[in-house]
Amino acid sequence: MVGRGRTSDLHIRTVRYPSAMQRFDGKIAWVTGSTRGIGRAIALRLARDGADLALHGRSADGPSRRLAEELADEIRGLGRRAVCVAADIARKDEVAAAVEQIEAGLGGLDFLILNAARAPFKDTTRLLERDLRLLVDTNLLGHLFCVQKALPLLERGGGRIVFISSLGSRYMNAQYPLGPIKAAMEAMVRQWSEELRPQGIEANAVCAGLVKTDSYKTLRRLWPELAALPEEAYVTPEEVADVTAFLCSDEARAIGGQTLIVDRGLSNRILRSP
Ligand SMILES: NC(=O)c1ccc[n+]([C@@H]2O[C@H](COP(=O)([O-])OP(=O)(O)OC[C@H]3O[C@@H](n4cnc5c(N)ncnc54)[C@H](OP(=O)(O)O)[C@@H]3O)[C@@H](O)[C@H]2O)c1
Repeated sequence: MVGRGRTSDLHIRTVRYPSAMQRFDGKIAWVTGSTRGIGRAIALRLARDGADLALHGRSADGPSRRLAEELADEIRGLGRRAVCVAADIARKDEVAAAVEQIEAGLGGLDFLILNAARAPFKDTTRLLERDLRLLVDTNLLGHLFCVQKALPLLERGGGRIVFISSLGSRYMNAQYPLGPIKAAMEAMVRQWSEELRPQGIEANAVCAGLVKTDSYKTLRRLWPELAALPEEAYVTPEEVADVTAFLCSDEARAIGGQTLIVDRGLSNRILRSP
C-alpha cells in the first residue's frame, strides 16, 4: 500500500508490492503542464506505475489539446484512466473548474505535480509590468491556486505535492527571472510541508538541471555557452520523472519540505574549470 508509514514501524518496513500490482494502483495524479516536456514524462512514469492521470495544458485547443489527447490515449493503452483538462493556472476560476473536472472524471486526487511554467526571458530590471504579472501570476500564484483548489481532494487520503524547480533557484542566470521565483517556491514547499502535514499531505520539490525540452531551445539562444556542455551534463525528462515518482511513493515517506537536486552533478562541479 502507498501511504504514510506509522512511526512505530518506520525502521523495519520493507515495501513490497504483489507482482501483479503496481505501486500507484488506485492513485490519481494531476500533472500540471503535461502536454509536453518534463510534465509529459512524469505523467507517463506515474501511469506506468499504476496511477490514473489528469493531463493538463494551458490552451483548450490547438497543438496543446492534441498533444494531451494523444498522451491520454497512450495512458489508456497502459490500462489506466486519463482525462484532459485545460486551464491557465494563473486564473483561479480556471483552476477551480479544472479541479471540478478531475473530480468528476476520476473521482479524487492523490498526487499534485506542480510542473507548469511560463516566463519571460529578460533581465529583471527590464521586465515590463505585463512581464512581471505573467511571471508572478503563473509561477507563484498559479501553483498556490492549484494547491488551494486541490486541497479538499488531496486531504481525503494522504496526498503528495511535488513542485518542479530549476537550478535558477540557487544560481544566478542572466535573463532568467524565473530563478528567484523558483527559490520562493522552494520556500513555499517547506511552508506547505509543515502547514499541510496535519491534513496528511506532504510536499517536496525536484530541482532539475538542464533538460532538452521546448523551453531549452530558448535557453540555448540566450546562453550560447551551453553548446560547450557535454551530453552527459543534461538530465533526461525521464530522470526527473523517476525522482518525482519516488517522492510520491511510500519509500519517500520520511522526506518532507525538501528539494532534491537532479542535475547529474552539474551544480556540484560548476566552479571547476573545463
Ligand atoms: N527544460 C529545462 O531545462 C528545465 C530545467 C529545470 C526545470 N525545469 C522546469 O520543469 C518544468 C517543465 O519544463 P519544460 O521544459 O518541460 O516545459 P515546456 O516544455 O515549456 O512545457 C510547459 C508546459 O506547461 C504548460 N503551461 C505553461 N504555462 C501554463 C499556464 N499558465 N497554465 C497551465 N499550463 C501552462 C504548457 O502547456 P501548453 O502546451 O498549453 O502551452 C506545457 O504543457 C517547468 O517548471 C520548468 O521550469 C525545466
